Amino acid sequence: MTQQDVRALVESNLATIPDFPEPGVLFRDLTPVFADGPAFHALSEALVEPFAGRFDVLAGVEARGFLLAGAASALCGAGLLPIRKAGKLPRRVLREEYALEYGTAALEVHEGELAPGTRVLIVDDVLATGGTVAAAARLVERAGWRVAGVSVAIELVDLGGRAALDDGHETFSLLQY
Ligand code: PRP
Ligand code: MG
Repeated sequence: MTQQDVRALVESNLATIPDFPEPGVLFRDLTPVFADGPAFHALSEALVEPFAGRFDVLAGVEARGFLLAGAASALCGAGLLPIRKAGKLPRRVLREEYALEYGTAALEVHEGELAPGTRVLIVDDVLATGGTVAAAARLVERAGWRVAGVSVAIELVDLGGRAALDDGHETFSLLQY
């Protein structure tokens, strides 16, 4: 399947919900894509294809990134690094905070989970302001691994996430709005 075919298949299954979670926000809902076997398969494959041969492990960002990174890692045979919301991991962690509209949140990984220098491809569903994947990238680097790139299903271009990442990480998005 060409990337254009994948785009069309995913887009035809995507739901767009006005005024969620709050008035004025147009929410792009991937759950119908996850529910459709061929669309979920094609999307998961398409996220890793641009980075083929250039990563060792996929990192999924809790929660929605877990779905895509988990599926993609099973398809391509790579390991999976869960980047979790704060307070969930039982061993020694590294923590990175990031800004939310109101306040901050934090992501964590287990220190020493991967060998030094492991090439990690960060996967998430949506790139909006970029705060989430930027924090994930900082964690990967602080842990002594390498960011192979960032791959997302949807990029909300006007929110400037690509610029927020601004440290030269190769970034792929299948769909842009
Ligand atoms: C959502 C989405 C991305 C992030 C994008 O996660 O899944 O991870 O926001 O926003 P940003 O680029 O502005 O950081 P959220 O933590 O809201 O929910 P989730 O736990 O369902 O993934
Ligand atoms: Mg998320």
